[in-house]
Amino acid sequence: MTDADPGAYAPPDSSGSYAPQPMLRGEKVWLRPVEPSELAEGVEKVNDATIAHFAGFKSPITRAGADRFGQKLVDEPGRTPSWLIFNIIPLGDQKGIGTVGFRDIDHLNGSAELTILLDDRRLLGKGYGTDAVNVLCDFGFGELRLERIFLRVFDYNARAIRSYEKAGFRTDALTRRSRFHRGVHHDVVVMSILRDDWLALPRPKSWDLAGP
Ligand SMILES: CC(C)(COP(=O)(O)OP(=O)(O)OC[C@H]1O[C@@H](n2cnc3c(N)ncnc32)[C@H](O)[C@@H]1OP(=O)(O)O)[C@@H](O)C(=O)NCCC(=O)NCCS
Repeated sequence: MTDADPGAYAPPDSSGSYAPQPMLRGEKVWLRPVEPSELAEGVEKVNDATIAHFAGFKSPITRAGADRFGQKLVDEPGRTPSWLIFNIIPLGDQKGIGTVGFRDIDHLNGSAELTILLDDRRLLGKGYGTDAVNVLCDFGFGELRLERIFLRVFDYNARAIRSYEKAGFRTDALTRRSRFHRGVHHDVVVMSILRDDWLALPRPKSWDLAGP
């Protein structure tokens, strides 16, 4: 990666070969669809105790479970996908550091649930997650014609709640004591951002960063 071309997929080589710009990019990361086979590769990472605690895995998941999940993501010609999951990749890099996407996209009502996790706990709190949420919101409102993007987050996940607030989400509701974890019941916070909230955000949109 060079200062002159911060969003390139790959470092330009000495021959000056063409490096395409990512379609979905933010200030720090770019997004590329997850291949179903990659989900199984990520099993060890999401079995990390810290990530599982915040992301909601109660016990370690298996490769077979990840494979079954991956089947939801297989492209079927002619089918409107209800799940769209992307790798989060630092700009100028190729290696994913987590996933972000929509699950259960409700195309009739223009609503979708956002899901995100960075899979290396050493990378939490460095701004990658908020940037990835921003890019996904731009994609959801700017390409999928969504009206509302919502998410569910555990009340003890203050870092995530702060990240979502920075991205423009507001609290809709609490579902009280709906998460049992480590011997205690917790509330789950439902947060959302509406199309009008997103339009009013002062930050540049993903496509402003990507160029014409
Ligand atoms: C949630 C997640 C995607 C957020 O991404 P991130 O890159 O870590 O978030 P950012 O660095 O952009 O922002 C975190 C904010 O929370 C703040 N923060 C960090 N720890 C905090 C804490 N314990 N309490 C309150 N705020 C905290 C940071 O200071 C920062 O706010 P600031 O920019 O105003 O200083 C990421 O932390 C993650 O993947 N966590 C593990 C899995 C998870 O929780 N998934 C979400 C399930 S709903």
